[in-house]
Amino acid sequence: MTRTYAGARERPFGSRPVTTALHDVDLDIRAESSLGIIGESGSGKSTLVRLLAALDAPTSGTVEVDGRPVDAAGPARSLHWLRALTGIVFQDPYASLDPRMSVGRIVGEPLWALGAPGDHRARVEEVLLRVGLDAEAAERFPHEFSGGQRQRIALARAIVHRPRLLLADEPLSALDVSVRARIIDLLARLRTEEDLTLVLVSHDIGVVAHVCDEIAVMKDGRIVERGRTADVLARPRHPYTRELLAAAPVLPPAPDGAARDREDVGRRD
Ligand SMILES: Nc1ncnc2c1ncn2[C@@H]1O[C@H](COP(=O)(O)OP(=O)(O)O)[C@@H](O)[C@H]1O
Ligand SMILES: [Mg+2]
Repeated sequence: MTRTYAGARERPFGSRPVTTALHDVDLDIRAESSLGIIGESGSGKSTLVRLLAALDAPTSGTVEVDGRPVDAAGPARSLHWLRALTGIVFQDPYASLDPRMSVGRIVGEPLWALGAPGDHRARVEEVLLRVGLDAEAAERFPHEFSGGQRQRIALARAIVHRPRLLLADEPLSALDVSVRARIIDLLARLRTEEDLTLVLVSHDIGVVAHVCDEIAVMKDGRIVERGRTADVLARPRHPYTRELLAAAPVLPPAPDGAARDREDVGRRD
């Protein structure tokens, strides 16, 4: 699929410069796999995620999820199935949580929007505990939480309706370095425990290497390399991947240790 954007005219009646955010990208994501997408800023990573989530439509080509074509231009109700199947987490947990809504409403919103059966309040509490927060967090508001805790809230909302596919677009970039490791561990844990297919975008190859079985490397709107994480790290084929690895050497993931996820909820992280 391809996605171009027409920019602003540089002069009246002039032609509009065209940016090709994605060039003929052909990407197949296996169910229950975890795919990391890396590449420098402007390489098309977010555009790809938006197309997968039907937040945007390709200029040409098609997107299919679970074997069904995604019609991002169609009426909202025609995408109900995709919303039910997908959870999404964005980069900035300050911008992505409505400050006027309680955490309970924010996290429960997909359940109400999808008309999910069952006790929504109980499910919200369950999922807050799942991401390492207290059930009482439901009564509070986003400003009462730190960046790391807000990203936990965003993750709770993303999985509350038990999606099959989790899309995460640079979920660590806005966080303090000290909290990133705990959020990435949480993401990895949720992915396995909830049997999610994960698409994780990061400009940090170390992050995706830690969580993902496969890596796709993007450059200028193209996927220039794709393979199993261990193979890409050991034998990068594309010069750009080698450059990325040279800039940020990746250590093999640490064995599961005691230091995992013991974050004190009351603490401002
Ligand atoms: N809504 C938009 N309008 C115009 N250009 C856009 C828009 N969204 C993205 N682009 C352009 O498409 C390219 C890819 O952007 P993006 O997918 O956001 O990259 P990344 O997430 O890898 O940083 C960039 O050149 C960007 O400027
Ligand atoms: Mg981006």
